[in-house]
Amino acid sequence: MRDDVLGAGLPRIDGPRKVSGHARYTADHHFPGMLIALPVCATIGRGTIRRVDCGAALAMPGVQAIYTRENIGHIAALPEDSKLEIDEKVPPMQDDQVRYYGQYVALVLADTFEQARDAVRLVQVDYDAETPDVRTELEPGGRMKTETERGDPDSAFAHAPVAIDETYRTPIETHNPMELHATVARWEGDSLTVYETTQAIVNHRGVLAAMLRVPEERVRVVTAFLGGGFGGKLWPWSHSLLAARAAQLAQRPVKLVVTRQMMFRSVGHRTNTQQRIRLGADGKGKLISLQHDFLFHSAPAGMSSEACGEATGYLYSCPNLRVTGGSRQRDFGVNTAMRGPGAVPGMFALESAMDELAVRLGIDPVALRLLNEPELDESKGVPFSSRHLRECLQLGAERFGWARRDAGIGAMRDGDTILGWGVASATWLGMRRPAQCAIRLHDDGVVTVRSATQDIGTGTCTVLAQLTAHALGLDVDRVRVEIGDTDLPPGPVSGGSMATASLATAVAMAARHAARQLLDVAGREQEGRELALVEGMVKGADGAQPFADVLRHAGVEYVEGQGESRWSFKDPHAKSVSIQSFGCHFVEVAWQPAIARLAVRRVVSVIDGGRIVNAKTARNQIEGAVQMGVGMALLEHTHYDHRNGAPVNGNLADYMMVTHADAPHVDVTFLDHPDHALNEYGVRGVGEIGLVGVAPAITAAVYHATGRRIRSLPVTIEALL
Ligand code: MOS
Repeated sequence: MRDDVLGAGLPRIDGPRKVSGHARYTADHHFPGMLIALPVCATIGRGTIRRVDCGAALAMPGVQAIYTRENIGHIAALPEDSKLEIDEKVPPMQDDQVRYYGQYVALVLADTFEQARDAVRLVQVDYDAETPDVRTELEPGGRMKTETERGDPDSAFAHAPVAIDETYRTPIETHNPMELHATVARWEGDSLTVYETTQAIVNHRGVLAAMLRVPEERVRVVTAFLGGGFGGKLWPWSHSLLAARAAQLAQRPVKLVVTRQMMFRSVGHRTNTQQRIRLGADGKGKLISLQHDFLFHSAPAGMSSEACGEATGYLYSCPNLRVTGGSRQRDFGVNTAMRGPGAVPGMFALESAMDELAVRLGIDPVALRLLNEPELDESKGVPFSSRHLRECLQLGAERFGWARRDAGIGAMRDGDTILGWGVASATWLGMRRPAQCAIRLHDDGVVTVRSATQDIGTGTCTVLAQLTAHALGLDVDRVRVEIGDTDLPPGPVSGGSMATASLATAVAMAARHAARQLLDVAGREQEGRELALVEGMVKGADGAQPFADVLRHAGVEYVEGQGESRWSFKDPHAKSVSIQSFGCHFVEVAWQPAIARLAVRRVVSVIDGGRIVNAKTARNQIEGAVQMGVGMALLEHTHYDHRNGAPVNGNLADYMMVTHADAPHVDVTFLDHPDHALNEYGVRGVGEIGLVGVAPAITAAVYHATGRRIRSLPVTIEALL
């Protein structure tokens, strides 16, 4: 074991390739004879395609083929009981229905991008258009599912000395990773290779195989580098299926890069939510009743659940509680996970209500949360594997200078600027998922760790090298990481903040297994001796030898050890505890009423994410997430034209996101308490938790500065005037 390689802020080992332009992203792949594909997108939000006339487009120079429902062939839906993941369940171009604005209705293949783009404009599509229902107000009172319940929340609420009953809203937000979705598909005989921008190459292979009816062993998916994803690239979208099928039909490699405008329509978004929170408390702030009823939108082509109440059952101690959830269908494209799905909008509602309760009672919001700290996970009736929210809040308060807070509205000033301070808790599930990896010890002294996972930009590649080096007692530069290719042992999804915990488990097992294989080889040479692999040396009674020498001596090129992780919820030990990450954000906003300018100045985040494998990449996760939270609180909001369902700000000029000018100073601290529930390293993982709680901390700070309680995101300047 080499403890010095864990925790250290090791720079990303793939960093030099990225910043020097040597990293090949999906769209960087070129093959001889490759065609450029570009979809024709529906210009209605609901209705029927009457006719597609490709004549003029086909006559354009360079246009090689146009596929429509008539000639794309059968693309199968996944069976109901499939374990594979796709959000848009209706396969593309199989019927005449238009289910959302921007749905692909034809696919043009041309020699160049410009030719394809011009030809797309000439494809004439006639529709029977209907008016889509893209209302974002979601009607309560319909069918709701009870997610978790205890005690008698109704009567406890009715009798509570203090009650809060408010509805909170979050808008549709669109994922805008720098790298656009893209597919490069290439057939060799009856084998398909797809270069794809996906957070889950193994699932992507499975979906392509199942929906295109190709045996899985003849499909390979490669994602060498990703330029971000935020959940939008977790599961396959239609463009990938269409590109792969088109390449097969045209018998040429095909590249399809989704445009930024299409990114707002056909590759998911975070659903809007509408959440009623009812809190009942005694006069001191102790929660008596907590009810959380959340709604999100589903879509005609599929449904992705936004579990806003996920954290509500365990975050605070409360004897009477009920969480219900439901969806209302709207004519949007299908929504999907966006960083911290469920918990991020859910905690906006819950933590906003907690702040309202603190104000109502005149209690410090930190004290209110400390007062309601639970002894155990009251929703499951089991202890937490490791919960340090109290320490997060106390340390955060100290680092922020919270003790200097004057709770009066607008009471804190810096010249003409009014300062507002706010705080919120954060939490996100800790989980391990199925993952395999292999570790090879080579006769040149190099170690390779191999897993069909991908690095979304978070640092998975670097963390894998560190975990492997640690397990084998080697320097990190002895380890070569092979990821991003489904020919490798099936690795984890880059999602849910689960990749590191899953890989840590698999790596530890694979390292032990590899060492055994090596000692077997050595033992063959040294009959009957006690041997051990220590810091890369095979040690016996009569000395030590580098493992490379042992392998060379035996004429063995490499030995391989295998390891795997399984779902933690199926693991009896991990099941007996509640595994969650915790944290908090303290926020300072600056409000300049004279010029109506609101900015977030500084954020102090304290995160309890188990043991931290890489202080730098983990900190970057939280820093990035906090900036995303500023965008969520103040800027991000996809607007739709109610006549046709078109996003009206579906481009980077009109869809506002955080830029450097908006970015606050962020101070991140990790508690670094190991949590051994998921693996021997004590690693839980970070990523989504950095976003949870940022928005409600900001709106709490806005309230402190202005006296305006904003319950519908984003906070607009108009709402403060
Ligand atoms: Mo994340 S929304 O699990 O990619």
